[in-house]
Amino acid sequence: MDRIRITGGGPLNGTIPISGAKNATLPLMIASLLTEETLILDNVPHLADVVQLQRILNNHGVDVMLSGKRAHTAENAGQTVKISAANIVDTTAPYELVSKMRASFWVLAPLLARKGEARVSLPGGCAIGTRPVDLLLMAMEKLGVNIEIEAGYVVARAPKGLQGGEINFSKVTVGGTHVALMAAALANGTTVIDNAAREPEVTDVADCLVKMGAKISGIGTSRLVIDGVAKLNGARHRVLPDRIEAGTYAFAVAMTGGDVLLEGARPDLLQSALDVLVEAGVKVTSSNEGIRIQRNGAGIAPVRVTTEPFPGFPTDLQAQLMALMTRAKGTSQITETIFENRFMHVQELARLGARISLDGQMATIEGVDKLKGAPVMATDLRASVSLVIAALAAEGDTYVNRVYHLDRGFERLEEKLGRCGAQIERLSS
Ligand code: EPZ
Repeated sequence: MDRIRITGGGPLNGTIPISGAKNATLPLMIASLLTEETLILDNVPHLADVVQLQRILNNHGVDVMLSGKRAHTAENAGQTVKISAANIVDTTAPYELVSKMRASFWVLAPLLARKGEARVSLPGGCAIGTRPVDLLLMAMEKLGVNIEIEAGYVVARAPKGLQGGEINFSKVTVGGTHVALMAAALANGTTVIDNAAREPEVTDVADCLVKMGAKISGIGTSRLVIDGVAKLNGARHRVLPDRIEAGTYAFAVAMTGGDVLLEGARPDLLQSALDVLVEAGVKVTSSNEGIRIQRNGAGIAPVRVTTEPFPGFPTDLQAQLMALMTRAKGTSQITETIFENRFMHVQELARLGARISLDGQMATIEGVDKLKGAPVMATDLRASVSLVIAALAAEGDTYVNRVYHLDRGFERLEEKLGRCGAQIERLSS
């Protein structure tokens, strides 16, 4: 199994191009099931999760092509992918595929909208928590879907087609909002979604659906109103830049010191994280080119942060912030409110010399002068990359195992960091 060796200590200087957002690409690819015409997506990152979703779509009879070639043969970044779901041949999403990637559960909505039925495996728990799908199923039921659970599968039927309805989420859910939007776009009548997620990736999907002919108002707010249409058409859409990738590299530069331009990053997508960096003593400058992160000489000031739905501080940057705070001049507190089990990185950061104590959902991090390299591994991609950030500032060599987590969500990580001076190398075994 591959691992990554990082020899820490040096600053990062240069430019890091920011890729298209993984968490927008996945639902956008799934939205292709809503139309028999071709959906063209630009700026698609080359990631293991994207390849996996392609397999899942293939299973439904969807054709995914990259500039005339099959998408998984391409090594280049920022791909253009053409997706055609002209003929949906299978409405079952099997356990073997859904259990590998939770987002694939979202095919439920477009399959129902196009075919009136779907049989989708329940995704099960994962490393960051139980992650139920009750709210997604509630949303479908509000649109007239009959749901039964049989042998670990959600069997959903809408024999009379989807009907517009009122969906009020008791908790902000990104996946719930994605499926509600997709189903409502082709439902008969008007749907109102209250307490909708406002994450930029939801907005990106809504923008794409509008290009496909959907009638959606309130995009970017917590109340979405959708007037269903009979058919959606093909469209061309550019995936928005990955705010979590940008935030991750911003925390990395804050950790090592140096001066890096995050090319193509959009400050409006991660203002809460940039505010935390400024509070920590980092210089942040935004321009048309992207976001420039500088820390030269000054130490890292401790912060108190709570994760929240957008526009609050994202849970997907919590582990990276914690890595940074291990070197702060004082004690920081980070409270995780989105997932109940998202502190798996704590014990691994401790292996590098971090001092972190946990009390329920709150972590207290006492900054230390030095981290020291060690072998580490992580259980999800954001936790893995937090170990990379810590390793970049640790003395000596750190070996990050289970690199496949990083490959799920970070495009060309070693190359991007290496070009800015990091000593980072992938070791194949
Ligand atoms: C999306 O997951 C992202 N995944 C996650 O990114 C991200 O951490 C999360 O949103 C929160 O921002 C993708 O976009 C592919 P949720 P999702 O539904 O949609 C609870 C990463 O690292 N909930 O917004 O699955 C749930 O347990 C990943 O890239 C229910 O209780 O998250 C959680 O506590 C990890 N019932 C909260 O809501 C439900 O039916 C928010 O989850 C659904 C969710």
